Amino acid sequence: MEKDIYVLGIESSCDETSVSVVKNGREVLSNVIHSQIDIHKQFGGVVPEIASRNHVEAISTVTKEALLKAEINFNDIDVVACTYGPGLVGALLVGVAYAKGLSYALNKPLVGVNHIHGHIAANYITHKELQPPFLCMVISGGHTHLVHIKDYTDFEILGKTRDDAIGEAFDKVARVIGLSYPGGPKIDKLAKEGEANIELPHTYFDNLDFSFSGIKTAVLNLHHKNPEVNKPDLCASFEKTATDMLITNTKKAIEQLNIKKVALAGGVSANSYIRESYENLGKQMGIKIYYPELRLCTDNAAMIASAGYYDYINGNISDLTLNAIPNLKI
Ligand code: KG4
Ligand code: ZN
Repeated sequence: MEKDIYVLGIESSCDETSVSVVKNGREVLSNVIHSQIDIHKQFGGVVPEIASRNHVEAISTVTKEALLKAEINFNDIDVVACTYGPGLVGALLVGVAYAKGLSYALNKPLVGVNHIHGHIAANYITHKELQPPFLCMVISGGHTHLVHIKDYTDFEILGKTRDDAIGEAFDKVARVIGLSYPGGPKIDKLAKEGEANIELPHTYFDNLDFSFSGIKTAVLNLHHKNPEVNKPDLCASFEKTATDMLITNTKKAIEQLNIKKVALAGGVSANSYIRESYENLGKQMGIKIYYPELRLCTDNAAMIASAGYYDYINGNISDLTLNAIPNLKI
């Protein structure tokens, strides 16, 4: 029988300090998330300096709690995995430096994980049977990528946003209509009380790229011209138009690749309208749709430990020269 592999995952790319222990890439033994949302809320978004400082203050305690919850010791860890990009450089550096220290002290391999690979891997935890190849729509606060997951560590970007990430558009729209940060979940809720009866612009290209600046600006202009505009209707219309753009390109990619499995990943994949729309697409096209359970959609370290496991078994191991790369690509 093969030996079990315990990966300690560390995530600190934005405003969540998270540490997790995952067994064999799919079984979460602990996933402690220390969120800074309440601190950044008062500024209407993440303040990088404050985020870094908070990661420093939280990381040791969060790590100890993760080991305690997993009921294991530092010595039981086989691999130390940390997010090294993309993200805020100061925030990333805290996790990377801490992971390097642990790896050196424990004499265990270090694996630098791409945060976006982590979001995709969240699906492996929720869906134990899911294996590549599949198509993944990565939608988060920083990313909008349509990716062909050819294998666990082999990715091809089919399309990406040319300007704003979809989550950024959700957050900006929310801010302008008076909803607090992060706005995505609040738009999700408010949209349920409204109807998608406001015409907003769709943006398409010849390829599978996206653009969300047009729809964002249209919503902002509409609200400035008429602050009395019905907010639930505006939220529902924004959500529907943005989702239409995602679905149109996803459909094209499904046809191009003739693929039968489509996954969603990233914070915005928590959106109930988007999930429902993809479920409908799945029924229409005879395709299986996957998305992570809610707590694994937004930033967390379990997804980093899972991606780190697949990097490790495929030989993608880092050394102590690992550095934070804020604009790391998929
Ligand atoms: O993946 P994530 O935690 O961070 C990044 O890697 O960017 O995503 C955060 C984003 C925020 O923009 C937040 O508003 C959005 O995910 N989000 C949602 C929902 N829950 C979180 N957007 C729409 N509907 C939701 N239910
Ligand atoms: Zn993220």
